[in-house]
Amino acid sequence: MSLVYRPRRLRASAGIRTMVRETAVTAANLVYPLFVVPGAHVKKEISSLPGNYHLSTDMAVEAAREVEAAGIPAVLVFGLPDYKDEQGSSAWDMKSPVQQAIAAIKKALPNLVVISDVCLCQYTSHGHCGLLKGSGVDNDASLPLLAEVALSHAKAGADMVAPSDMMDGRVAAIRDMLDRTGFSNISIMSYAAKYASAYYGPFRDAAHSAPQFGDRRAYQMDPANAREALKEVALDVEEGADIVIVKPALAYLDIVRQVKDEFLLPVAVYNVSGEYAMVKAAAAQGLIDEPRVVMETLTSMKRAGADIIITYHALDAVKWL
Ligand code: PBG
Ligand code: ZN
Repeated sequence: MSLVYRPRRLRASAGIRTMVRETAVTAANLVYPLFVVPGAHVKKEISSLPGNYHLSTDMAVEAAREVEAAGIPAVLVFGLPDYKDEQGSSAWDMKSPVQQAIAAIKKALPNLVVISDVCLCQYTSHGHCGLLKGSGVDNDASLPLLAEVALSHAKAGADMVAPSDMMDGRVAAIRDMLDRTGFSNISIMSYAAKYASAYYGPFRDAAHSAPQFGDRRAYQMDPANAREALKEVALDVEEGADIVIVKPALAYLDIVRQVKDEFLLPVAVYNVSGEYAMVKAAAAQGLIDEPRVVMETLTSMKRAGADIIITYHALDAVKWL
């Protein structure tokens, strides 16, 4: 039989497949999240995120060393404070774990990019991402506090701040604060399109950041909306974001592609805790081949247009590249 088109020819050997491969995930694309806690010599596995740890500052430096040695360019640091209040004031306390860890990591590893999560939910007694007014979150009153948090991270030495609260105008508020305080070179990686997702469950256990009442649907996005994501990204770009994040990743790859096609700045995806936990749970039961599933998943994110992938799989994935 004479067939004109035989796509299988280009799949015939490993060598040919390598030649025509369109997408490659490399260590350089990855960012590894770290959870820092008070104390010293603490390295305690997070039960909801197997293979990830609550780390005191000293141990966070060791973990960051491992990240750098693996060829991963950046860590994203989350803090668990030793006190919480209505305003979340431990979020901008220079003595809190996250500020301490940022400083310690930058001192030990000046070339590693340190990105810090900017939000209030780990720090407020009510677990919401901003200041409360009645039973809701007060957008405008939250902005100066978020800017204060970003400034404290910049003072500690962060290279980049990543606001994840989803308040309107927070990128502008943070940019303004950083520019007025001599930190105009600190980048903003904005969680621009962050959906109100059930995939954050394991993270909220890990970060002790679950809302104590209600949910986050009045500030995070409705999973049903795509055009709204483009609007959110456009506003963050206008306000001065340097990199935008789409979050979660896997159920939102259509959004990643649209953002990539429409805007000229780097696009990051956050391969979130629930996505990670599902893979780990299935692998633990012997239902899937973990390395292959992880690499296929990360490749799909890159293929969809992500330049940067924030993932709990990062340290494992570099072994499987
Ligand atoms: C806090 C924050 C969350 C995540 C990152 N920053 C949780 C949330 O919004 O409730 C989720 C990360 C993950 O699930 O891995 N604003
Ligand atoms: Zn939050």
